[in-house]
Amino acid sequence: MSDNCEKAYITTPIYYVNDIPHIGHAYTTIIADTLAIYSRMAGLDTFFLTGTDEHGQKIEEAAKKRGKTPKEYADEISSKFKELWDEFDITYDKYIRTTDQEHKIGVQKAFEKMLEKGDIYKGTYEGHYCISCETFFTQTQLVDSEFCPECGKPTSVVQEESYFFKLSKYQDKLLEWYKSEDKAILPKTKKNEVMRFVEDGLDDLSITRTSFDWGVKLPDSVNDPKHVIYVWLDALMNYVTALGYGKDEKLMDYWPARVHLIGKDILRFHAIFWPAFLMSLELPLPKHIAAHGWWTRDGEKMSKSKGNVINPKEVADAYGLENFRYFMLREVPFGGDGDFSQKALIDRINSDLGNDLGNLLNRLIGMSGKYSEGVVSSENVDKYYSKELKEVEESISKLEPLLFDMQLHRYLEELWRPLSIANKAIDNYQPWNLMKEGKEEEALALNGLIANILAKVAVMLHPVMPKTTQKIADALGFIINNNSYVKLIKNYELLDKFTIKKTPPLFPRVEEQLLNEPEQKENRVQKAKNDKKESSTGVITIDEFFKTELKIGTIIEAQEVPKSKKLLKLQVDIGEDRPRQVIAGIKEWYAPEDLVDTQVCVVANLKPAKLMGMLSEGMLLAAKDENGLSLIRPEKPKSVGTKIS
Ligand code: MSP
Repeated sequence: MSDNCEKAYITTPIYYVNDIPHIGHAYTTIIADTLAIYSRMAGLDTFFLTGTDEHGQKIEEAAKKRGKTPKEYADEISSKFKELWDEFDITYDKYIRTTDQEHKIGVQKAFEKMLEKGDIYKGTYEGHYCISCETFFTQTQLVDSEFCPECGKPTSVVQEESYFFKLSKYQDKLLEWYKSEDKAILPKTKKNEVMRFVEDGLDDLSITRTSFDWGVKLPDSVNDPKHVIYVWLDALMNYVTALGYGKDEKLMDYWPARVHLIGKDILRFHAIFWPAFLMSLELPLPKHIAAHGWWTRDGEKMSKSKGNVINPKEVADAYGLENFRYFMLREVPFGGDGDFSQKALIDRINSDLGNDLGNLLNRLIGMSGKYSEGVVSSENVDKYYSKELKEVEESISKLEPLLFDMQLHRYLEELWRPLSIANKAIDNYQPWNLMKEGKEEEALALNGLIANILAKVAVMLHPVMPKTTQKIADALGFIINNNSYVKLIKNYELLDKFTIKKTPPLFPRVEEQLLNEPEQKENRVQKAKNDKKESSTGVITIDEFFKTELKIGTIIEAQEVPKSKKLLKLQVDIGEDRPRQVIAGIKEWYAPEDLVDTQVCVVANLKPAKLMGMLSEGMLLAAKDENGLSLIRPEKPKSVGTKIS
C-alpha cells in the first residue's frame, strides 16, 4: 500500500478481562471487522485494532477471588478473547493488551506531556466511587444518595490524594468540535446527549488512584510511586499506543482513527474524556465515534445470575458464523437496542439468506444448466434489461455512504433490493416460456442479468459474510478483491463470460437449537425438574391461586426514577394506612402524569424487593405482547383494597 493511500484506522473498545466474551463484545467486534474488510476491499490502507483492558480495581479484585495474581488472571481471560476472535476469523491487525510494556510507556509519556502542558495538577479527591463501573460520581448523580446511576450497585465514599486533569479547560473546545463536525458522534441522536452533558459543565477529572496498585505507575520523572493511573486514561490511550505513541511512532500515520466503535454505555468516556486528552496531547481528533445499542435476550437484560447470557461461539456453532454476523447487523438499527431471539435469527437465515439469496443462485445454476450448458454471458443484458440494471445501480450507489454512516441495517436492507429485482425479473419474464417461444437470446440475457446482480451483491455483502460470498463469486467465475470491487461496483461494469459452477446449497434450512452454556444448561434442567416436581401438570388448585393476594389500587403519585430508562416510582393506595411504594418497569409505555388517579391490580403479598436501591412493595399486573405493554385495570372503578378473585 503506498504511503499516500487513504488510511482507515478502525478500533473496537478494549474488553475488560473480568468477564468472558459474550454477544455484546462479539457485536462490536463484528461491526468493526465488517468495516475493516470493506475498507481493505475498497483499497484503503486499513489498520484494525482490538485487545483487552487489564488494569484497575475491578480486575485486581476478580483475580484475588480466584486466588490468582492480576497478571495471571488477565493472561487467562485475554487469551480467551483472542482465541474467540481467531475462531471467528476476525481480521484484526493488532491485538493490544494494556499490560504490554509499549503501552505502559506510551501512557506515561502522555502523562508527562499533559503535565508539561499545565493540564495536570495535584489535589485531593473526595467522591462516590463505583468499583464495578470504575467511575466516580457526584452526590447529585447518585440514585438515593448511595447507588450507582449506571449499574445500581452501592458506591463507596473515597477520599484520596489525586492528580487531576483539567477537563473543564476543554469544555468550550469540545463543544466547538461537536458543532463543527456533524458526524463526529454517530448516531447523531447520541451527539445531542453528549452536548447537553458538556453544556451542563465539566469538572476536572481525577486521573490517579492511591487505593490500589494494579495499574500503570506514574512516570519516574514525577517521582510519586504511590499513584497509579486511572484505568480510563490508561485504556483510552491504547488507541494511540498501539500505533507506537511515545515510543516508536512509525504507525502513527494511521492516526486519527476513522472510527472508534463502542457501545452506548461507554460513550461519555470516548466522546468527552478522549477528545479532551487528545487536545491536551495536541493530536488530531478521531473522525467518528460510533456508539451501538445494547443486546437483550428475549426482551430481558442478560446477566450471569439469570443464566441467560449468550455465548457467541455457541450461536455461531449452532447456526453458522456468517449467518450470525448477518443477523446481528441486519436485525437492529445501529444505535438502537436489539433483542436476541433464536426465532428472529432463524427467520433471517431461512428467509433473507435461504430464500432471497441462496435460492436465486440455485435458480441460476438450474436455468443456465438447462439453457446454455452452464455458460453465462453479459451480452445483451443491457439490450433487454436496462431498466433493471439501472435500478440495481441506483441501489448499489447508495450503499457505501450508508456503511460509513454506520447505518448497517439499512445497508443490508438496500442490498436486498437488487435481489428482489432479480427474483421478480425471473417471475415476470418467465425464462422457461421465453425459451418455449423461441426467445432464447432474451432468456440467456436474463441469466446474465441474474448473474450480474448476484455478483454485485456478493461483493457488497462480502464484508459481512466473507467466506459465503467468495463461494458465490467462485460459482460465478471471479474472486472478490479490490479489482472486482472496482470493476463491478465502482465502474459498474458487467461480468466476463463464465461457466457456472454447481454449488451445494449455501443456506440449508435451520431449525431451532438448544442454546446455553453447559453449566447454565444444567441449572436450567435442575430448575425445570424442580418446577415439575412442584406442579407436575402446570395446573394449580384454587388454594394455590389464593396464595396470591390481588387487590385494586389507585395510583396517587408517579415519578420517573432518575437515570433509569425503564422504571417509574409509584405510590399506590390499596386501602391500607399508607400507600405502597411500587417500582414498576413501565416507563417505556406510560408517562407518570397519565398514571395518577388511575386504577390498577396489585399483587399485595409479594416479598418486598430493592430495585436500584429503592424498596418496591408490590407488583402491578400487566400484559405485554409485540405491540407493547398494557396495565390490567378494573373495567369499572372499584374501591381501593377490593380483593380480586
Ligand atoms: N474496557 C472498557 C472499554 C475501554 S475502551 C478504551 C469496557 N469494556 S467492556 O468489556 O465492559 O465492554 C466492552 C464493550 O462491550 C462495550 O462497548 C459495551 O457496550 C459492549 N457490551 C457489553 N455488553 C453488551 C450488551 N449486552 N450488548 C451490546 N454491547 C454490550 O467497557
